[in-house]
Amino acid sequence: MSLFKIENESTRVYEKINTCSFDTAYTASVAVAREIVNLILQKQQEGKPCVLGMATGNSPKTLYAELVRIHKEEGVSFSNVISFNLDEYYPMSPVALQSYVRYMKEVLFDHVDIKMENCYIPDGTLAKDEISKYCKEYEQKIDFYGGIDLQILGIGGNGHIGFNEPGAQVNSKTRMVALDYATRAAAQNDFFGLENTPRRAITLGIQKIMEAKQVILLAWGEGKSAIVKSAVEGSVTEHIPASFLQLHENVIVVLDEGASQNLTRVHTPWLVDQVEWTSSLVKNAVVSLAKKINKPILMLTDNDYNENGLNDLLAEQGPAYDINIIVFNQLHRTITGWPGGKPRRDDRYRPERAEPAQKRCLIFSPHPDDDIISMGGTFIRLHEQQHDVHVAYQVSGNIAVSDDDAIRFVDFVNRFHDAFGFVDKKVELLYDKCLSAVKNKKSSDIDIHELRKIKGLIRQGEALATCRYVGLKDENVHFLNMPFYETGMVRKNPLGKIDIQIIVALIKKIKPHQIYAAGDLADPHGTHKVCLDAIFEALEILKDEDYMKECWVWLYRGAWAEWEIENIDMAVPMSPNQVIQKRHGIWKHQSQKDGVVFQGSDSREFWQRAEDRNAETAALYNALGLPEYAAMEAFRRYYFNENVKFK
Ligand code: F6R
Repeated sequence: MSLFKIENESTRVYEKINTCSFDTAYTASVAVAREIVNLILQKQQEGKPCVLGMATGNSPKTLYAELVRIHKEEGVSFSNVISFNLDEYYPMSPVALQSYVRYMKEVLFDHVDIKMENCYIPDGTLAKDEISKYCKEYEQKIDFYGGIDLQILGIGGNGHIGFNEPGAQVNSKTRMVALDYATRAAAQNDFFGLENTPRRAITLGIQKIMEAKQVILLAWGEGKSAIVKSAVEGSVTEHIPASFLQLHENVIVVLDEGASQNLTRVHTPWLVDQVEWTSSLVKNAVVSLAKKINKPILMLTDNDYNENGLNDLLAEQGPAYDINIIVFNQLHRTITGWPGGKPRRDDRYRPERAEPAQKRCLIFSPHPDDDIISMGGTFIRLHEQQHDVHVAYQVSGNIAVSDDDAIRFVDFVNRFHDAFGFVDKKVELLYDKCLSAVKNKKSSDIDIHELRKIKGLIRQGEALATCRYVGLKDENVHFLNMPFYETGMVRKNPLGKIDIQIIVALIKKIKPHQIYAAGDLADPHGTHKVCLDAIFEALEILKDEDYMKECWVWLYRGAWAEWEIENIDMAVPMSPNQVIQKRHGIWKHQSQKDGVVFQGSDSREFWQRAEDRNAETAALYNALGLPEYAAMEAFRRYYFNENVKFK
């Protein structure tokens, strides 16, 4: 029997698939692992094989880690497991960095007692004319074992399951497919660029997925929340292959908080149930109403509330006029040109305290350019307003520097020596070594140690240039080079104690009144999230220290997304000139300009993304009836020493 209990049926009227939301991807993965283990044990008791359908990608990583833990610590055997993987890129060598064969061995198969002859993964090395026969046999093998008992799935940003891209039919067979642009763009970081990313893959068809006795789909992070809502609440359509799961009888969609956030019961709970109208829920409801019907807050009428499902709020706290004013003031009070607090002023309605007038501010920047991209305007203001600003760059960011750039810099050092008559054989040797490493590098190779170091130095130089441009002293710039990042690959190591200790030591040294951190929750496995987890863990360790009682934590977002307007606790406006000043600060990062290694699916440069985003936030405030600014940077306060972390 399934461990997943679906509670509050009445609030799920919009959901056409059973969905289960957990606080974190970790707790969710632990629950799914237990479900799998129970099935394995049950089959063992019955003396039968347990046929599992396996997915790869980020979503099941923690699940596999938990299965490995259960095998090692609880002694559960995988000897009766037969596994069929969903897909493999084509063409693909099984030993390549990006191969799903390699992935499965690294994360699961090599660490449990599954028999390798029972592990089936589509073969990316076949000749094209062998594939169709091979796919038929793959399905026959599944049938031979009596079909898949439990199929694990992730979901692509375009709604794909397996590599069944939009347009795939519900009765599609296992086959070779062409990958969508969106899928290739999402995978390009693993392949060091779109041009190296395969155009094809072999995938299990939707029919075999639908024939599985049970299906569990995993989705983490707010990046997935929009597609999850469409798949779960929308209509069944081939444009979103995951929506076919609505036709399956035994499927559960397992989500973390981020991935659940667009579901109707989470996003607009007043539409599905009686709610307690807390001040933050009122703010959410009024802002979403104003956005939905495109009106400034102070123009909303009783009728607008009634016609949009907010009659209960009106009955409890109305009339509209009163509610509007409260919410308008709440939003207005988030705006401040004094992110470090305005000295000697009444601060009751300001986001930050007035005192101490000069604060020690510690900005954590995951990569060497996130500080200036995401909060450059605020960074500059903090320094100009006489605060003691420190910046800590958490990871080296070395894999995002192109080989060309690295060679250009080594070449410069080499010529520099020549030009001034310094004879240094070592420099020449290093130059030759790097040059030949780059020449002979295959797209799937990791850089040699020296190149990685040089690339890291390039990024350090750029970050220093930005800090000097803002006016910081060099001793206020800290390069933490957190070890978890230093794999030379997109795939990183898990966060270790040493990573957390590095953060703890710095906070202890600076004793900041303000900490700024990248609260990027969109991708739970991305570097930003790992960097944030390290800070959260450090805060947990330090929270009882005296100086931490005076420390406030502000979260900014990364280059891609902004806080929802109702979640912003501090909005720092920028004038047109300040926008340009920030732009010049971002331009110091030359290795990340004019075509970058990790472009993603957005073709804009980082400074353009930042400007668009900051302008959009300002425009949204303005559309809600607040003053008009050129741009705004937004922050959310994180209450690390209280039970409720966000208010
Ligand atoms: C992987 C697969 C894909 C992924 C999906 C989500 O075997 O079939 O459908 O499950 O692209 O990928 P992640 O989990 O990396 O977000």
